[in-house]
Amino acid sequence: MDYKIPLFDLNFDEQEVEAAVETIRSGWISTGPKTNEFEKVFAEMLGAKHAVALANCTVALHLGMILCGVEEGDEVICPSLTFVATVNAVKYVRATPVFADVKGYGDLTIDPKDIEKKITHKTKAIAVMHFGGHACDMDAIMEIANKHNLKVIEDACHGPLSEYKGKKLGTIGSVGCFSFFSNKNISTGEGGMIVMNDEALFDRAKLLRSHGMTSMSYERAKGHSTAYDVVELGYNYRMEDIRSAIGLVQLKKLQGDLEKRVTVRSWYLEELAAIPEVIVPFADRTEFSSNYIFPIVLTPECKAVRDEVRDQLHAQGIQTSIHYPPAHKFSIYADNKVPLPVTEYVAERLITLPMYSSLTRENIAYIASTLKSILADCK
Ligand SMILES: Cc1ncc(COP(=O)(O)O)c(C=O)c1O
Repeated sequence: MDYKIPLFDLNFDEQEVEAAVETIRSGWISTGPKTNEFEKVFAEMLGAKHAVALANCTVALHLGMILCGVEEGDEVICPSLTFVATVNAVKYVRATPVFADVKGYGDLTIDPKDIEKKITHKTKAIAVMHFGGHACDMDAIMEIANKHNLKVIEDACHGPLSEYKGKKLGTIGSVGCFSFFSNKNISTGEGGMIVMNDEALFDRAKLLRSHGMTSMSYERAKGHSTAYDVVELGYNYRMEDIRSAIGLVQLKKLQGDLEKRVTVRSWYLEELAAIPEVIVPFADRTEFSSNYIFPIVLTPECKAVRDEVRDQLHAQGIQTSIHYPPAHKFSIYADNKVPLPVTEYVAERLITLPMYSSLTRENIAYIASTLKSILADCK
C-alpha cells in the first residue's frame, strides 16, 4: 500500500542524476577525486579537522571502536534506545556493551547519571547517540569521560549540522560517525563518514578503511605512488566516487533542507499542543537540529494501545515507525539484560511520525487531527 503521507521522502532531483552520470562518464568510479572532495566539504561544514568517507555508518562505528582502542574484555557504555548498529559495533571488537537508560520521556538521550553508575574498571569508552539530531548532554558526558579516562564515540547518524553549544554534533568526542543511508538527512543509498580532529586517528582510519594498505588505487593511477605495503589488518570499508558525487549534491542542499524541517517541527509543536495525551520529546530545545525524525510519546495517563494507534494512523494513510525496539530486548543481547525503566516505557509508547522537508502545513494538520480523534476514541 502507498501511504498518503510516508514516513520519509527523498529530496533528489536531476542534480543527483547528473552527478552520478558525470562521474560514470569521467572513467573513475571507485574511491577517488569525488570522495576526496566529499570528505573535504563534509569536514569543513562540521568544523572538523578530518573526515574519512566509508561504506556505511555501521563500519564507521566499528572503526570508531578500533580507533578508541576498545578490545576484548573492555566494556562500552551505550544506550539501548538506538539502532542496533551502535551496540553491534561494540561486539565486533569482542567488547561488552553495557546499557544505560535515557533521561526521560521528554529527552530520549543517554542519561549521564546512569552512565556514571555503570562505570567499572573494565569501562573503556562511552558510545552516545544524538537521538533525532538532538544533542546528548555532552558537557556532563565529556566531564565523566575525562574524569575516568574514557573515550567518547558519537553516533551522529541522526544529526548532521545539529549543534550543541555552538559545536557540531560528531565533533565533540574522539570520533563522530554519520550515515548516508537512503532515509537519512544526507542520502547516497548507502554510505557513511567518520570525523575526527586527531591527526593520528585520521591516518589510521584511512589505513583501516582499505586493508591497511599504504596507498589507494587512485593514488597509484595518478603516479603518486607505485607500490604499497600492508601495515595492519584493515578492511574494505571504502566509499566510491559515484555515491560521493551524489553526496556532494546532498551537502549543497543540506542547510536549506534542515531549515525547512525546523519549520515542519514548529507546525507539529503548534498542532500537537492541543493533544494532552502526547509528549513531544525535546520540545523545549532551541539549538539547531537536523530533525531527522519526529518522535512522540504517549503519556502514562493515555489509555490507548500504541500499536493500535499506529494501525489506525496507517489506515488513514499516515506511515509511522518506532525508533527503536530497545537493543537490550533482542535475543542476541539476552546476556546483557538490565532494568532500563525509562527506555522500556518509551519503547512501548513511542510513535515516530512522518518528517521530511517537503511536508506541508496541511499535511501536519491532517496528521495531528487524525491522531487527536484516534486518541479521543480511546478515552
Ligand atoms: C543511530 C544509528 N546508528 C547507526 C546506523 C547505521 O547506519 P548504516 O545503515 O549507514 O550502517 C543507523 C542507520 O540506520 C542509525 O540510525
